[in-house]
Amino acid sequence: MKNIILCGFMGCGKSTIGRIMSKKADLSFVDMDRYIEEKQNMTVAEIFEKYGEEGFRDLEHEACLELSQREDQVIAAGGGTLTFKRNIDALKSSGRIIFIDVSYENLCERLKRDTRRPLLQVENRNERIKELLEKRLPIYRGAASIIVNGNFSSRVVAYNILGIIR
Ligand code: S3P
Repeated sequence: MKNIILCGFMGCGKSTIGRIMSKKADLSFVDMDRYIEEKQNMTVAEIFEKYGEEGFRDLEHEACLELSQREDQVIAAGGGTLTFKRNIDALKSSGRIIFIDVSYENLCERLKRDTRRPLLQVENRNERIKELLEKRLPIYRGAASIIVNGNFSSRVVAYNILGIIR
């Protein structure tokens, strides 16, 4: 079976939803950030610090190329992954891209205590979320073949997606 690739903003629930889906559909689950971290033996924050965002984006692209060679996976992409054409091209060829759409207000609420995402460690976090979200929304929408409402519990969203793709 082709892969199922979950995309959406940080905090939209990609990893939790992906895990639930993979168990239910008997597919393997790959969290792209964890995949990169394990390969580098560093956290995403450490990678950003050592190599900068650009260095992280190259490792992320490498991960897209590798994972797109495999099948039967639910892949939780990083929040920035599907905003790059080279990653969209690689992942699209390996499966279906699903955008989990969560409102700005819910994202702010879900991300308000985050300490591990480098892009959000700024003074005005909600402003940063707004800027990034405005820039990324049309790209997520363009990349995905399915868009789901992510403003529900992870379980509900996971079952909704499974219902749509079956
Ligand atoms: C990023 C999202 C993060 C991680 C990195 C950059 C982004 O993944 O890849 O911090 O650019 O939105 P999550 O969406 O899993 O938090």
